[in-house]
Amino acid sequence: MAVRWLMTGALVALWMASAAMTSAQQAPAPVMLTPSGEGLPDGPGKDVTVRSCGTCHEARRAASARLTRAGWAAVIDSMIGRGARIADGDVPVVLEYLSTHFLGEAAQPLNINTAPQIDIEAAVGLLRREAAAVVRYRERNGRFKTIDDLKKVPGIDFSKVERRRAFIVTL
Ligand code: HEC
Repeated sequence: MAVRWLMTGALVALWMASAAMTSAQQAPAPVMLTPSGEGLPDGPGKDVTVRSCGTCHEARRAASARLTRAGWAAVIDSMIGRGARIADGDVPVVLEYLSTHFLGEAAQPLNINTAPQIDIEAAVGLLRREAAAVVRYRERNGRFKTIDDLKKVPGIDFSKVERRRAFIVTL
């Protein structure tokens, strides 16, 4: 009997280990892009921002949302948490650049490619079935490259997305 329990325990441990491995494999691979300032407005701090924000994803796509200053500060913090290496002295420069050129009213961005259905529903103001359609479309067709790609999702009222365009990102 005891042996049986031990074996069950071992199997559960194995299953847990393989589940952990699978989710580790699904984490976004660290791609190193060549930072480019294409499409970003000129101004003080642009170079530092492009260097700081353009290695893991395109800087232009990251800086497509319009957020409050506090919102941008939180994004920068969260990117440092995800491994962005930004010198202490550069943080205020990046914050200044982003909150000068990309200032808005939203406290945080919504990444339409990773947000759970419930967040899409609440933040974009979609019906439950519309948010479900967005997730289904994303699962079948891969990531949305632009916000306009959401027009292809069957059964959603795109004008609702249009109204929230300012804080939706497609990373
Ligand atoms: C070390 C890599 C790295 C760097 C450098 C980086 N980011 Fe990110 N960023 C990520 C990852 C990973 C995600 C999540 C993408 C995903 O879920 O597929 C992300 C997502 C985002 C999002 C979407 C919201 C979210 O939290 O998913 C924004 C906005 C963003 N980054 C802005 C920035 C800005 C601004 C900078 C520069 C200050 C920056 N990033 C630098 C890795 C990085």
